[in-house]
Amino acid sequence: MAPAVVVSGSSENPDFEGRITVYVIVCVVIAAFGGLMFGYDIGISGGVTSMDDFLKKFFPVVYKKKQHVLENNYCKYDNQFLQLFTSCLYLAALIASFAASKVCTKAGRKLTMQIASIFFLIGVILTAGGVNLGMLILGRIFLGFGVGFANQAVPLFLSEIAPTRIRGALNISFQLFITIGILIANLVNYFASNIHPNGWRISLGIAGIPALMLCLGSILICETPTSLIERNKIEEGKKVLRKIRGIENVDDEFDTILHACEMAKQVKDPFRKLMKPVSRPPLVIAICLQVFQQFTGINAIMFYAPVLFQTVGFRDDAALLSSVITGLVNVFSTMVSVYLVDRAGRRFLLLEACVQMLVSQVITGIILLKELKPTADSLSKGEAIFVVIMVCLFVMGFAWSWGPIGWLIPSETFPLETRSAGFAFAVSSNMLFTFVIAQAFLSMLCRLQAGIFFFFAGWIIIMGVFTWYLLPETKGIPVDSMVDKVWKQHWFWRSFMANDDFRTDVKVV
Ligand code: BGC
Repeated sequence: MAPAVVVSGSSENPDFEGRITVYVIVCVVIAAFGGLMFGYDIGISGGVTSMDDFLKKFFPVVYKKKQHVLENNYCKYDNQFLQLFTSCLYLAALIASFAASKVCTKAGRKLTMQIASIFFLIGVILTAGGVNLGMLILGRIFLGFGVGFANQAVPLFLSEIAPTRIRGALNISFQLFITIGILIANLVNYFASNIHPNGWRISLGIAGIPALMLCLGSILICETPTSLIERNKIEEGKKVLRKIRGIENVDDEFDTILHACEMAKQVKDPFRKLMKPVSRPPLVIAICLQVFQQFTGINAIMFYAPVLFQTVGFRDDAALLSSVITGLVNVFSTMVSVYLVDRAGRRFLLLEACVQMLVSQVITGIILLKELKPTADSLSKGEAIFVVIMVCLFVMGFAWSWGPIGWLIPSETFPLETRSAGFAFAVSSNMLFTFVIAQAFLSMLCRLQAGIFFFFAGWIIIMGVFTWYLLPETKGIPVDSMVDKVWKQHWFWRSFMANDDFRTDVKVV
């Protein structure tokens, strides 16, 4: 059975009574450390893999190549094992997310987060204390298990614990914490790169702080009322609901959760239901958004920005500083999205970003094509700075659109009974394609050279066309009215609704 995810969004539903209690805020902050961990892991590997001490110890071949003046500019870091160091985390997370989905349903969100934090801690110990490549990779795999468990549990936890009226904003806040994690990692790398010979250990070891906070903090937080009620702990669920809302009378919200859980229980096999034609529109859109999100090339920047900036000719610390700048742009632009997503709408942001990202990818590609010859000197200072500006423009576009909206739409378009299973598809597609990019980018950079930017630009055109024709606007549509107000009105998706057996009577809070 799928966990009953009770999500906000219906303007027709009453906003339940209750305050935003301190307890809820504490719970949200603690859970957000899961997002921070994910972001930190995304941001840390690029800087670490460009540190000489790290390369000398684990990847001497890459280190030699990097020192070699005549070595092809684009190929300095092309090494399958170096990429595996980054990518194996996402493969582990992909596998773990299926197990996590089960644990989350059977044992609750709280325990799933606690398990995630233990995995994170083991991963941090193994990577920061790494003495050989095997130990490093094993550590990254444990971190990946942590990411898989945390990414399944934290968004569910946040949406179930938050008062209705701030639930939408909280959804994007998870992405905001991811970007803050990436930024912290960029900063740590910047300072740690000057500490020899163990700066890389500091970079990898500091991940222990959010992991420990999540581990200790998760003792303090409560289980969500939805998860308790879903597991038949009805009275306890009501007690927790009173506590987090700070009022005695929670009957309305309680009844709604109870009703939603009962309805979800009737669907014995949500994965089977997902395969039916009526589930096709939200499923195809959830998967495509995640695949496209990765094919914007964002993680080529997030993982390998320092490597990329060194490729265009920055010295080590300038390259790391440039990554800090892109990290800052990422955080602030995500805040813009929190403000705009319910005003300008999803389609507008996604389409605008396609144009912005396309322009910056093409310009970067042209500069590198013309100016960065494989075996000649790197770009001039002015050109290199211009490339950084283009990368910032690209990150900005992504951060207020495909980044947060890639997660938001899958969480608001599935009906209750397939929401969790559908979301699991979104998470695993994300992990799979993050893995692909992490594993392939440096080799692609070496083979395609400047052409890599045109490769991503090509994908951006495809996703723009997809958005224009196939992605309906969901801004302001109650989640329980998607079938009638969105899918049945859409020129293409309505044909899948012919024999619809969607329940439209589920009450969504
Ligand atoms: C993506 C990550 C990416 C991050 C960048 C997220 O939405 O899923 O792959 O690294 O945004 O901020």
